Amino acid sequence: METYTLQRAREYEQTREREISGEDRPLFHLSSRVGWLNDPNGFSWYRDAYHLFYQYHPYDTQWGPMHWGHAVSTDLLHWEYLPTAMAPDMPFDRDGCFSGSALELPDGKMLLMYTGVVKRKEPGSGLVEYQTQCLATGDGREYKKYEGNPVLVGEKLPEGFSRMDFRDPKIWQCEDGSYRCVVGNRAADGSGQILLFGSEDGFRWTFRKVLVENRGRYGKMWECPDFFALDGHQVLLASPQDMLPQGLEYHNGNGTLCLIGAYDTETEMFEQQYDQAVDYGVDFYAPQTTLSPDGRRIMVGWMQNWDTCNVRKEGCRWFGQMSVPRELSVKNGRLFQQPVRELEALRREKVAYRNVLVEGQVELPRICGRFVDMELEIRQADVPGGYQKFIIMFARNEEFHMSLEYDPVESVLKLDRKFSGIRRGGIHQRRVHIPCRNSTLKLRMILDRYSAEIFVNDGEYVMTMTFYTKDEAEGITFLAHGMAKMDIVKYSLQSK
Ligand code: FRU
Repeated sequence: METYTLQRAREYEQTREREISGEDRPLFHLSSRVGWLNDPNGFSWYRDAYHLFYQYHPYDTQWGPMHWGHAVSTDLLHWEYLPTAMAPDMPFDRDGCFSGSALELPDGKMLLMYTGVVKRKEPGSGLVEYQTQCLATGDGREYKKYEGNPVLVGEKLPEGFSRMDFRDPKIWQCEDGSYRCVVGNRAADGSGQILLFGSEDGFRWTFRKVLVENRGRYGKMWECPDFFALDGHQVLLASPQDMLPQGLEYHNGNGTLCLIGAYDTETEMFEQQYDQAVDYGVDFYAPQTTLSPDGRRIMVGWMQNWDTCNVRKEGCRWFGQMSVPRELSVKNGRLFQQPVRELEALRREKVAYRNVLVEGQVELPRICGRFVDMELEIRQADVPGGYQKFIIMFARNEEFHMSLEYDPVESVLKLDRKFSGIRRGGIHQRRVHIPCRNSTLKLRMILDRYSAEIFVNDGEYVMTMTFYTKDEAEGITFLAHGMAKMDIVKYSLQSK
């Protein structure tokens, strides 16, 4: 059996990252230092910087024995890699250090809580994977796994709760100083459930209750839960596996789920009031949030989806990026997202037009680029019939383009990467139902080298998609069936 040590991972990443040039990476989205990246982990503010760890397999651009990669930033957009934080090197996590979270302890140390995976040979059923919750403490760079690991084991769970699907602890501190964490689990009927655990000191944990049961409503197992108060409501985020579609709200496969409700901290009862998807594109999964020092709830997701990992740049030595970090709020029973305001510091070269009449195909001077922050308001022109369809083609050259298409009759917005140069089949488009007043659509498009994040109506809906068209494809074209009127403000984004 191969052994994975921290030292081996650190030496490997240090040598091999030199083979990846800056031009092969996104400009302001965090990508894997080398090899493979999935979920964000341990997202936290600690000793004057944001820390973002990630599910990491340095040795290959495919998923493998999970390590924790590590990066820090002061503005959430310029990330500096730190050495691998954890390797699967202990008896309790030898088959993987799976997802988890972080917080600062009263003694100033950082506490990491994560899932340790161990495969055991069982008579009659081959290798079976057991998952437990483990701890490590550190100073923001070096981490030591806790000698009392694992601190939460399946055997201590009620009868029928899965010991194999028991993962992704998200930890927080309560006002009285005690700690809680939520963990994804599977109930006896195979359906997901979120378990709540408590601890006085962050080290000794006990089961408190089942916080939310899926009961077959949204997919099966729920991965990567997060649970927090926001704007007078309580929000539960989870990433369900094996979803069935529900209209244009949820799609097949791995999805994202946001439940908004009320939480009684005395009885620890969560009452669900609203549900929605978190992101309506293809590439967004396993989001995790943290609080910024100025009190903003910030979320970052894995800008990828398990079912589409074959859409990648050929020959690339890294795979997997994080979404742009997003500020969250709750309004009228919905989760709103906006790119973090720090992004505004990257804006250059403002170009603005008002009341542009779009009829047929239109290109506008200086509206182009692949590193873009662009705000648009699209309205009906004062002509009979107005517009029946509005299309924005971007990342465009003669051969390829991405497209975003709005149908005001059906109130459907479609993001499509089919013509972006992908040579693999699969899911390349997604649609979302956007109720718009007077067919007025507000968009903010954030483009980086390999991704588009579309924030609709001030962040009420978001669609995220990756694509790998060559950098030179930087045209932006507007197209209306009928006649539309458009305001546009566009900036180029530039990193330091
Ligand atoms: C979600 C997930 C988690 C798990 C991790 C393993 O994408 O499946 O549930 O901890 O990835 O890498």
